[in-house]
Amino acid sequence: MEGSKTLTKALLKWYFDSGVEFNLSKIKKREVKQNILSSAIIEVSNESDTIDLKKPDSFLEDCNSLESLHQAVLNFSGCALKRTAKNTVFSDGNPNSKIMLLGESPGEEEDKEGLPFLGEAGLLLDKMLNAIGQNRKNTYLSNIIFWRPPGNRKPTEEEVSICMPFVQKHIELVKPKILVLVGAIAAKAIYGVETGITQVRGNWKTIKLDSGLEVNSIAIFHPAFLLKQPARKKEAWEDLKKIKIAINKNT
Ligand code: URA
Repeated sequence: MEGSKTLTKALLKWYFDSGVEFNLSKIKKREVKQNILSSAIIEVSNESDTIDLKKPDSFLEDCNSLESLHQAVLNFSGCALKRTAKNTVFSDGNPNSKIMLLGESPGEEEDKEGLPFLGEAGLLLDKMLNAIGQNRKNTYLSNIIFWRPPGNRKPTEEEVSICMPFVQKHIELVKPKILVLVGAIAAKAIYGVETGITQVRGNWKTIKLDSGLEVNSIAIFHPAFLLKQPARKKEAWEDLKKIKIAINKNT
């Protein structure tokens, strides 16, 4: 009950921060939740593998650089996770890279240091990148969620929805040639499908941004998953080889 009150408060705050001007007291909880969730819905075309990302919310229209987007995320107080997190984790690596990775959410170490993909899973990700000639000097890394969920729980759909306008803007500003979605949560957030990572991984899909920019994307297994299921590294390697071929073609 307490949790749902907190969520309602966070959702109303989101509306308020987004500049909605009508009487907040008249919004029923269910309506707010519905509207918030719809802001992150991604349309998937059945005809092809092109996915239209919905227009990022207008309050981010003035963000024309990664610095201003970073500042907007730092200033944003519409996500309850921020209250329990030590740091906002925005990105690491090379913002001029043509290869952008999007993971799930910061864990304990990332929260402490303010950087994505540290700890054991981060080390494995670095090894995976190194295997295809990539590293944090030539690759850009971020997450779908900017704050650590308490106890490293999975982010909720509401939390993903709240962060999505920032994530869309992030992709728009980086303009990667290749977007790698690391793990099930990132794949679900961007593709908007319930299909598990096992089915969705390794397939190229084009993401169409509202700006008209089209980005090639591919989902891979999360390194934390590979640490628990090392037998799946074989499939991860197949996906990395596909990414390497695309990098050679695109850079
Ligand atoms: N750390 C991150 O920054 N992202 C993940 O997805 C996992 C750990």
